[in-house]
Amino acid sequence: MTSGLEHPDNISVSPYLIREYASLKPFHTFGLSATARFFCEIDSEEALLALLKGPVFVENSHVFLGEGSNTLFTRDFSGIVVRLNIMGLQQVSEDEQCITLKVSAGENWHSFVKYTLNSGYYGLENLSLIPGSVGAAPVQNIGAYGVEVKDLIAEVEAIDIYSGAKRIFKNRDCDFSYRHSCFKGELENRYVITAVSFCLTKAPKLKLEYAGLTEGFESQGLRKPTALDVSDLICDLRKSKLPDPDKIGNAGSFFKNPIISAAQYFKLQEQFAEIKSFKLKNNKYKIPAGWLIEYCGFKGASIGPIGIYEKQALVLINSGEANGADVHHAVKQITSRVSFEFDILLEVEPIIF
Ligand code: EPU
Repeated sequence: MTSGLEHPDNISVSPYLIREYASLKPFHTFGLSATARFFCEIDSEEALLALLKGPVFVENSHVFLGEGSNTLFTRDFSGIVVRLNIMGLQQVSEDEQCITLKVSAGENWHSFVKYTLNSGYYGLENLSLIPGSVGAAPVQNIGAYGVEVKDLIAEVEAIDIYSGAKRIFKNRDCDFSYRHSCFKGELENRYVITAVSFCLTKAPKLKLEYAGLTEGFESQGLRKPTALDVSDLICDLRKSKLPDPDKIGNAGSFFKNPIISAAQYFKLQEQFAEIKSFKLKNNKYKIPAGWLIEYCGFKGASIGPIGIYEKQALVLINSGEANGADVHHAVKQITSRVSFEFDILLEVEPIIF
């Protein structure tokens, strides 16, 4: 069923179409059954600005979605869900060393990464094959294999959903940290990201320190890998460890890796000599949540219709039958057990409605 919009006397000129009672199952990769009271796909800034002023948007709560790879709908949503499909890529500036590209929010992340590498622009190779859209990347500051997207972002372009004004956030304005930015922090629900500018280098500066990369190239006998080799290896590693969201419902890492004080880490190390850790510059320790969850015996197990992925315990999977209550139940079971064993409270990583 579809409805007319805020131009009741001239519906045909409306730059967008709002559907009612739309299924959200195809729009988030965890694939739970849920319905949005209103649902709209937006493919231009003009359409977005018109939508923001319209009564359906103004009178209801809202959620903006990219490809839905880091968002779960565990219940019906009574407001409007807006999927951003704004596409485009343009070169902003260039000098001998660097190029700055501005990319619209709806572009697919991995297609963009491949485009940069094939064009001879480097920096994003370690972030290959991360599911999702370009506009979602800064929100949770996606990261993998020793690189975070904040390392490459020059600016984020966003629209104030209340005034419609455009605001340019310089990198330093985004409050980036591990799996965090102002867009999921203090400015959550205030701005919608429409484009991101990336500063990439013309000569590769490969980052190969992350465990698995050096070993991978050694076993391939590659002494001087190129950025494309790095991207290929990371695609292979991800495919071997992480479920393909097109085949198995999942949202990537379901929990953040907890960051604990040195004192707590040393205490845990006395109890669990084999505990894995990564020392941060601020003298804190990041503990792999996958290790904590595996230690508790959950890896490969099922909690009702929610599975804990057999190759990476940080990833929860949907057997296909799961509902929102099943997700909340599984999260509770896992976090309670980890808290009991280690006195660490795991934080959920995706945005959950
Ligand atoms: N580990 C286990 N058991 C497991 C999984 C991991 O013991 O089931 C241990 C591993 O042995 C390893 C350590 O945990 O020593 C780290 O594992 P891994 O390299 O797989 O990385 P991760 O910390 O579990 C993070 C990101 C991933 C990213 C990888 C690779 C978070 C929340 N997750 O996972 O991101 O791909 O590093 O860089 O930081 C995502 O966000 O969706 C995602 C997949």
